[in-house]
Amino acid sequence: MNGIPDQLLVIFGSSGDLTKRKLIPSLFKLFAGGHLPENFGVLGVSRSTATDDDFRRKVVLENPYIPETIENHGLRKEFAKLMHYHALGDSYDKDYSELKTRIQELDGKWSCGGSSIFYLSVPPRIYQTIAARLHEQGLSSEEDGHSRLIVEKPFGYDLESARKLNAGLQEYFKEDQIYRIDHYLGKETVQNLLVTRFSNSIFEPLWNRNYIRYVEITNAESVGVEKRGGYYDTAGALRDMFQNHLLQILSLVVMEPPIGADAESIRNEKVKALKSLRIMRDPKTLYEHTIRGQYLSGEIDGEQVPGYREEEGVDPKSTTETYAAIKFFVDNWRWADVPFYVRTAKRMPTKVTEVVIHFKTPHHQLFRSSEMGGKENKLIIRIQPNEGILVKFGVKVPGQGFTVERANLDFYYSDLKGARVMDAYERLLLDAMQGDATLYARADEVEAAWEFVDPILDYWSKGEDVVTYGYSAGMWGPSNADELLEGESYWRNPGKHLTDDPGFCVIS
Ligand code: BG6
Repeated sequence: MNGIPDQLLVIFGSSGDLTKRKLIPSLFKLFAGGHLPENFGVLGVSRSTATDDDFRRKVVLENPYIPETIENHGLRKEFAKLMHYHALGDSYDKDYSELKTRIQELDGKWSCGGSSIFYLSVPPRIYQTIAARLHEQGLSSEEDGHSRLIVEKPFGYDLESARKLNAGLQEYFKEDQIYRIDHYLGKETVQNLLVTRFSNSIFEPLWNRNYIRYVEITNAESVGVEKRGGYYDTAGALRDMFQNHLLQILSLVVMEPPIGADAESIRNEKVKALKSLRIMRDPKTLYEHTIRGQYLSGEIDGEQVPGYREEEGVDPKSTTETYAAIKFFVDNWRWADVPFYVRTAKRMPTKVTEVVIHFKTPHHQLFRSSEMGGKENKLIIRIQPNEGILVKFGVKVPGQGFTVERANLDFYYSDLKGARVMDAYERLLLDAMQGDATLYARADEVEAAWEFVDPILDYWSKGEDVVTYGYSAGMWGPSNADELLEGESYWRNPGKHLTDDPGFCVIS
């Protein structure tokens, strides 16, 4: 008995890629680790015709994303028995009475006690339809057991559509039944931002405008848009990564200490943080504080890769951004006048996400001659890969006088022995099964993030002086992105390893 309540997981859009690549492999790991509820079943729901056996073969028995290991050898067949499939036919918008009968039958078979989770891995435009059809059948009711709805991003296309979506779902499910997934919140290192800040006494006293000069967040990927050109071309980097994942990370950096570690206390502070972002509305600020770029063909890891406009599903004249860098301020007591620089991009030299806190130089510089300019203290929180934390600080070079050099204090997650790190979907699925919404975005959080992003998108689509800079694949984006940074500052262009300092150009 692991205390996870019995339940049935119903996955809408189960013939899609996400189910095969992420959801089922994560459920399998939970199964192998003994974390699933004692009584549990899965029902895949899609439009295509298939039998339970077809579904089991596709998502479990022949699924290449479930690696065969010594530990899980022989478990696949057992796990596959939990899988079932229901074909809806030609549309998601239909009477769900047959689906309800199937759910009831499986609920009885697996003794799920009337509790279900509905995972919507379908385009957002049909979220509301599914919620309405479920509600019609009484499946949103929590009289017998829980009924929860998990929805995937993109959560809205802009503020207006996000509001509509929220209102549309809330018509049929209460807010505390709705779980908006942001897989970055499922990453251990993102959660550790809270622990780093609030369980240590050495960082938080410095975590403010008195000691911090600026904050930099980089999210770089070396991949391009892969097979998702069609979707990406309508979204762009700001909608795809910044509005959700990066603003979630940012809210954890910016927020005030919550009054407790429960979902509502933490999310209340995150909303406050997002609401304190200074919304940029005038074209001059938007021109000066935002940079958009698009990758051209180039070379990554010795391989020639196509430009964005040559990718499948992308308009050959597209000006959609694959690079976005934004400078902004946070209007509150803690952060007044501290610039924040956040960038996200595809086809960068390496895949990396990190938060860099740049501290001010000491108020009185004793060792003036030691040329510590540009060598202030930095705290680098590496979200991925080579997960860890790095502090850069000054040390005396041995010998006469006081020459100061910068040294590294580094910690790596891989050094923590014993604990298996769950992947993001494992953690998030388990939390939803337990009814813990801490790592899920609340409606007001999503809306506050869109409120900040909307004017930028609007300016980018209508502004007269907006340009999309080209950058060669494998470079750190357009070079003028450095001009975004105030004074003598440059982006920290990280390498594969936390302690690398490779600079602008990486030739590997
Ligand atoms: C997704 C985006 O949400 O996150 C993708 O839609 C992106 O474009 C992905 O590649 C990145 O996730 P991760 O976990 O690989 O950093």
